Amino acid sequence: MIRVAAVGDIHVGEDVRGLYRNRLTGIADDADILLVAGDLTQHGTAEEGRMAADELRDIGVPVITVLGNHDYHSDAETEITKALQDAGITVLEGESTVIDCHGRRLGVAGAKGFGGGFAGRCGSDFGEPEMKAFIRHTKTTAARLGEALGALDADARVALTHYAPVKDTLNGEPLEIYPFLGSYLLAEVIDGAGIDLAVHGHAHRGVEKGITPGGIPVRNAALPVIERAYAVYCLGGPDDVECATDDTVGATA
Ligand SMILES: [Fe+2]
Ligand SMILES: [Fe+2]
Repeated sequence: MIRVAAVGDIHVGEDVRGLYRNRLTGIADDADILLVAGDLTQHGTAEEGRMAADELRDIGVPVITVLGNHDYHSDAETEITKALQDAGITVLEGESTVIDCHGRRLGVAGAKGFGGGFAGRCGSDFGEPEMKAFIRHTKTTAARLGEALGALDADARVALTHYAPVKDTLNGEPLEIYPFLGSYLLAEVIDGAGIDLAVHGHAHRGVEKGITPGGIPVRNAALPVIERAYAVYCLGGPDDVECATDDTVGATA
């Protein structure tokens, strides 16, 4: 069994410096790896990126992250990525990595993703150049995620994004902003790869659990949603996603 801890939207800044790190004590007893689904910072400054790196460095398990929209806000995504990498954290954007977990290989492919909406209620690559650019960005990041997933050779495979691949996990968010919370194109590549689990963040007012049209479990691990330091999902367990101890483990963290 591979135990995957996940969280998103930790939104580190000067006002909360050190608080999240304190909640990670003992994570190595609960999980084999921590996935962070973007929005590590509040305003995407390089300084906040360094603070986020300090929150996540040397916590006892490998940390893999994607960036979120907040991490791009100050055009410092390169510096943020560098700070995280210097702290030993893997940052994925259209890339993948494989981690050995007790002799089983966990493959994680990650990309930020983007908006656009969901089937029947989505934007299209049509009209003004600004609209085309919006949808083309979604298509590009979804395609990169799909390529990274397709190239993964592992015993268990997980997709890590910031934006949501399905609308199930947006339940509770205003319908009017769904097109800015995710895209069905992400679910298409996730289903195409037939992976084990998809983890995202971004939808602070959504719900934790959903499923793609192809039957892949989706988890919105945004911190305000899971209401614990991290959720733990087990791959290869009795029901192949949830640890029996999932909620109790997280609740103590
Ligand atoms: Fe967020
Ligand atoms: Fe976000």
